[in-house]
Amino acid sequence: MSIGPLDDETVDKHRQAGDVLRTVMDETAEMVEPGVTHLEVAEYAESRIEELADGCAFPVNISINEEASHATPARDDDIEFTEDDMVCLDIGVHVDGYIADAATTIDFTGNDELVEAAEQALEAALDAVAAGVDTGTVGAEIEDVIRGYGYTPVLNLSGHGVEQYDAHTGPNIPNRGVDRGTELQVGDVVAIEPFATDGRGKVTEGAKEEIFELQQERSVRNRAARKVLDQVTSEFDGLPFASRWVDSPRAEMALRRLKQAGVVRGYPVLKEEDGRLISQAEHTVIVTEDGCEITTE
Ligand code: CO
Repeated sequence: MSIGPLDDETVDKHRQAGDVLRTVMDETAEMVEPGVTHLEVAEYAESRIEELADGCAFPVNISINEEASHATPARDDDIEFTEDDMVCLDIGVHVDGYIADAATTIDFTGNDELVEAAEQALEAALDAVAAGVDTGTVGAEIEDVIRGYGYTPVLNLSGHGVEQYDAHTGPNIPNRGVDRGTELQVGDVVAIEPFATDGRGKVTEGAKEEIFELQQERSVRNRAARKVLDQVTSEFDGLPFASRWVDSPRAEMALRRLKQAGVVRGYPVLKEEDGRLISQAEHTVIVTEDGCEITTE
């Protein structure tokens, strides 16, 4: 069935992407254990997505403790999960460019309530979503629940719309109450992602940068950079990609050059500014007349 401006086929592709994401998320979350490497988990999830759908909407994000997002293993990463980790696993799948985006938190630190705060905030937000509802109202629901647990929402991160081959578009779904947001429309596809923290609620950019995205195609002189650009334009469909996906012994240098030339942009890891813990929960939904359809459940 069509939903607002989305025809049957488009709705179906969103649902397929969501189904694959659910399967991959369940399998992958099971794998996260102390002693297992981040890279094993990311590569497993990404290969399952390639198998079951048209591809990853972005590299698998594995954010530990104070990291909120944009963390993905480097090519030769051997970092293992430990008993002191709070792990946010954020996965994106696309079918013909139509995107499902979801996240869950796996906690070994014993901070159950922090995890629950993000999960319950997401539930409240999902209950609030419907056509005609202002995104500020959704944000207020998220903020109320997280503050009710005695924690703070991450104020400078927000949920977002997704469109075909675009993982981050409007409308913005704030994680706090704001006076004037955007009115949700039937057929909007949005990823709602509350982040909760025991810190002050602000993330800043860290030094690590492993995720990139094509910004503007432009000729580059350097041979290695040109080769990498060829792969980026032919394989990644304008979606974010990991530096470890680039088949070049000089990938890091080439990406640096492409960045300097304004051809690609990087996504530095975002971290809680005081090094406090962050939990996350996320689903993608299609807004309907009287509520929403959760595609990733
Ligand atoms: Co996500």
